[in-house]
Amino acid sequence: MLDMARQYSTDFPVAESTLVPDSSKEVVLLTGSTGAFGSYILDALLHSDDVVKIYAINHANVLTSPKVIFLDCDLSANLFGLDYWVYHEPTEDVTSVIHNAWRVDSNISLASLEPLIRGTRRLIDFSLTCRMAPRFVFTSSAGIFRNTQGSSYAAAEAFLADPAISAGWGYGESKWVAEYILEEVAKSTTLKPVVVRTGQLTGGTNGAWNVKEWFPLLVKSSEDVKYLPDIPDCVSWIPIDIAAKALVEFRFSKCRYIHLLHPRHVAASVILQRVASTLSIPLVPYSQWIDAISQTALEEGSDHAVTKTPVLWLLEFFHSQGATSNREAFGFPSLQTTNLEQSVTLGNLYQLGVGDVDKWLSYW
Ligand SMILES: NC(=O)c1ccc[n+]([C@@H]2O[C@H](COP(=O)([O-])OP(=O)(O)OC[C@H]3O[C@@H](n4cnc5c(N)ncnc54)[C@H](OP(=O)(O)O)[C@@H]3O)[C@@H](O)[C@H]2O)c1
Repeated sequence: MLDMARQYSTDFPVAESTLVPDSSKEVVLLTGSTGAFGSYILDALLHSDDVVKIYAINHANVLTSPKVIFLDCDLSANLFGLDYWVYHEPTEDVTSVIHNAWRVDSNISLASLEPLIRGTRRLIDFSLTCRMAPRFVFTSSAGIFRNTQGSSYAAAEAFLADPAISAGWGYGESKWVAEYILEEVAKSTTLKPVVVRTGQLTGGTNGAWNVKEWFPLLVKSSEDVKYLPDIPDCVSWIPIDIAAKALVEFRFSKCRYIHLLHPRHVAASVILQRVASTLSIPLVPYSQWIDAISQTALEEGSDHAVTKTPVLWLLEFFHSQGATSNREAFGFPSLQTTNLEQSVTLGNLYQLGVGDVDKWLSYW
């Protein structure tokens, strides 16, 4: 991890400009707008009166809008794989960069994610050659705190110097490497990135929550085995559309690290009890639930069980998440959130409740 991080942290270009951009006429370059979070970030930018233009760097166009210019790019390639003049145009007017694209895959090695590390470095170089000194937001993940089990404090909103905390999971490792490079950039150049470590995102306020994610899979599998796990502790999950609005606000933050969670956590039992009563299945201790899922796999044979009980794909994740301390429910790390006070959107955010659960269930 450290070798890769150092490899991409040398010879940063000298910034072309220290000109502070006008915050009332924002031109934002966004990566990953075709994804779940990115599409909500794009929507939040489209509805921001202070944003006059958006460059969306993607493999595909997602909508037509006079405010958006889609660039079909390869982030990891020289000049993003564009003609020089196409690449040059945004360097003239971009005032903020939001780097959100990533490969979200639990079973992938750091080496396979190197193109995204290279892409992050290319975006840094792009930013340093802009005519105005752009703001820079990076969507990192709370997953970089994977190995903090047993620690007796909430993880700080600060640079994580020890790569061992993120080691053992390619996705988290890659986010750590990207954060290291951004920390080095901040030390040695005028670019001052805001690293937003995002926690668990739920469906939007309309209930749309991708059925392939772990919690929808957990509910689906629980229906199959006729048990739901009874989990103590709290969750700080945040609706994806609200998180996107907050992330867009954070481009003006002076904080280097922000933990994007729900500022008002809720007991996991509020959520699980509502699912249990709606689906008419009992809550049982977590260990009993894991045993039931594993037993189904043994009885039905792996191929059939994977189809019928998809959470088997995530059994290893659940095993490791269950046996933790000083963590939120499902083993999510406990994180400091002082810097969230910067967000107007999050200031009055309602607590998650049964109404949200009802919307997720009807979407699934
Ligand atoms: N969802 C969560 O709960 C959560 C939690 C913490 C952090 N995050 C972070 O939020 C960001 C967005 O996540 P998401 O949930 O929206 O994931 P997603 O739905 O899988 O979207 C990923 C986006 O990244 C793009 N992308 C993937 N590989 C790429 C590559 N090699 N080069 C360029 N673009 C690439 C995808 O474009 P194509 O569609 O063209 O491949 C897509 O637009 C990620 O940085 C993720 O780490 C998400």
